[in-house]
Amino acid sequence: MNKFKIRQKQLMKSLGDGAFVLVGATLQVRNSDVDFPFRQNSDMRYLCGFEEPDSILILSKKGDIIESALIVLPSDKVSEIWHGKRFGVDGAIKHFDVNRAYSNVDLNSALEKELTGHSVLHYEWNESESFDGIILKTLKTFKNAYRKNPMYPKTISSYGRVLWQMRQRKSQEEQNTLKVSANITKDAHIKSMMALKPGMNESEIYALLEYEYLKNGGTSGYGNIVAGGSNATCLHYTSNNAVLNEGDLLLIDSGCEKDGYTADVTRCFPVGGKFTKKAAKIYSVVLEANKKAIEKCVVGNSLKVVHQESLNVLVQGLIDLKILDGTLDENLKSEEYKKFYMHNTSHWLGMDVHDVGLYDVDGVPVLFEEGMCLTVEPGLYFNSDFSGRNTDFDGIGVRIEDNIIISKNGPINLTDHILKEIGEIENMMAGSSQ
Ligand code: GLY
Ligand code: MN
Repeated sequence: MNKFKIRQKQLMKSLGDGAFVLVGATLQVRNSDVDFPFRQNSDMRYLCGFEEPDSILILSKKGDIIESALIVLPSDKVSEIWHGKRFGVDGAIKHFDVNRAYSNVDLNSALEKELTGHSVLHYEWNESESFDGIILKTLKTFKNAYRKNPMYPKTISSYGRVLWQMRQRKSQEEQNTLKVSANITKDAHIKSMMALKPGMNESEIYALLEYEYLKNGGTSGYGNIVAGGSNATCLHYTSNNAVLNEGDLLLIDSGCEKDGYTADVTRCFPVGGKFTKKAAKIYSVVLEANKKAIEKCVVGNSLKVVHQESLNVLVQGLIDLKILDGTLDENLKSEEYKKFYMHNTSHWLGMDVHDVGLYDVDGVPVLFEEGMCLTVEPGLYFNSDFSGRNTDFDGIGVRIEDNIIISKNGPINLTDHILKEIGEIENMMAGSSQ
């Protein structure tokens, strides 16, 4: 049985009898007749690997019988001349091992056929507004004909919790794919470090990152952040087109998505190859927070524990640098540090950069289990326009982000090989300029 069939079976066994309907991604218009590049939604990719737009996966369970169906774009010569080959109905059955397939020209009748005979519909509202309307219409059609068709879904049950919990625990194969993404990301970051020269534009480094990902059969898992100097104090900086000046730090937050799984890595290094004294002071605090927080990534801990460890180091660092007054406890309580550290330390990572999975259940933190994957990304950002606080460090933004898999033998740092010690970075950059 292939991995998709195994996942489908596991999902339906957990959800119980009924029909499960999952809507895939649709093309988004960029402008005029131009679409954004298509990316299948991660749930669809995880459950059946079908990567064409406007597809719908239906799974059903009645006792021991689990079946599957795909609704897909039909084969269409004219469309295929313009946009490329489609699997069509026959290809969907042949290559994706489903019991039935339909053209989405017949969407309404296909849905009615597949949902008839099931009293429960496993469906997630608000994933696609337009498809929510189609589901409501289908249910109304059933209701209007209820004298003829008494068995149709009257209970709608959310599948998210079950499916997303499955995605949260990565199999060995998924972990290996994440490793490949991390390795391509490493090459892209190191090559950026070596190529960086004063006077370059952020866009040149952006292009280099994209080139590395595409050359290796991947793509960016999210919009690259290439932020020089004070641009790094904007957490999700998107312009990526300023000149890089000697003495500034360059922050790169960028990860390769390969075979559906993305890395998410941030490194900072100095334009010109040498950290200024001020930059080194901030960088050292963030690096210590990064390392200490990674040590907490062990079975039984939680994102909350990791965040607290990173906070303790960052806030003590701010006190030692005389940016904050008072004791560690006083500052943790007053949250004055949020002027300089305003985000959490971690998020889940996987098919989506901010991957599925709850942080807390009923107010209790979710505990780490083997196979979970997360980022550890402490940072410090000094921008008096944002914080209202002038410090000696204005214009410096530092974040150091690694990707960690939880294992019974302790944290597996997938991105440890992307240089982050000050000495290593300076040596590497000095070597590349000779
Ligand atoms: N890579 C951007 C973020 O984690 O928000
Ligand atoms: Mn991140």
